[in-house]
Amino acid sequence: MGMLDGHCGLVTGAASGIGRATAVRLRAEGARVALVDVDADAVRSAADEVGGTAVVADVGDSEQLAAAVSEAVSTMGGLSLLVNNAGVGAVRRLHTYSDREYDRIVDVSMRGTFNGIRAAAPVMLAAGRGAIVNVASVSGMRPTRGEAPYAAAKAAVIALTQSAALEYGPTLRVNCVSPGLIETPLTGQLLVDDSVRAGFDRRTPLGRVGTADEVASVIAFLCSDLASYVTGVNLPIDGGSLLPSAQVEGMLAAILAQTD
Ligand SMILES: NC(=O)c1ccc[n+]([C@@H]2O[C@H](COP(=O)([O-])OP(=O)(O)OC[C@H]3O[C@@H](n4cnc5c(N)ncnc54)[C@H](O)[C@@H]3O)[C@@H](O)[C@H]2O)c1
Repeated sequence: MGMLDGHCGLVTGAASGIGRATAVRLRAEGARVALVDVDADAVRSAADEVGGTAVVADVGDSEQLAAAVSEAVSTMGGLSLLVNNAGVGAVRRLHTYSDREYDRIVDVSMRGTFNGIRAAAPVMLAAGRGAIVNVASVSGMRPTRGEAPYAAAKAAVIALTQSAALEYGPTLRVNCVSPGLIETPLTGQLLVDDSVRAGFDRRTPLGRVGTADEVASVIAFLCSDLASYVTGVNLPIDGGSLLPSAQVEGMLAAILAQTD
């Protein structure tokens, strides 16, 4: 028996990385799944592998995402779980972002999450139950230089989560997760440099980069009845990487070494 038996879930950005791993996990826990992605070939092959339904849509386009939700509802026979996972990023100095690049980042993460909730909430409210999990980022809590639109969009995802949790309780639960550095195609370019990876491992309490499966298992938990009294939270999945303080960590290290 899976912890999501009898559920019907929709995952956005499900052709790759965390979204794909989440679709696999929801299916393994007994849910029917619809995989939504803008990449048509990749989402079809992911859906075949997972045993779910592929729906091609751009989450930033409200009409496309509403149509994707309707298609998923009619194919699966309902909708009780929504994972707003699709997201894109970029790295440049704040004043060098073009309007186009700003719009691309904000449209996928922030508008896409809003569009997903707006399309799915009425269906879930009518059915009398539902859980929504949004994928934010540690960048939305503690930004890094170079990712201003991404960090702002992810902070907005955290606020949207809290707003939706207030509006839709007690019928729906709405939570978000904030992954730290997770090994996926999004971060592959960064992690090819061994010294970047080694530096991250050194600074992180759990000593390594995370996996997409480790994010998927927390999302599945938040979708399940194990989290039946949890709503409006933002749960970091970051190996403790938010803990070290850049300001004093280095200064205290020398004193600490003398106490061994
Ligand atoms: N990987 C990390 O370290 C990390 C850390 C923090 C947060 N996140 C967040 O996790 C989520 C998933 O990231 P990932 O690392 O798995 O990325 P990924 O690049 O592997 O996968 C993202 C998927 O989203 C799809 N997508 C992009 N734009 C879309 C759109 N407009 N409509 C529908 N689908 C679209 C892509 O086609 C792709 O399949 C994102 O929201 C990302 O910001 C990732």
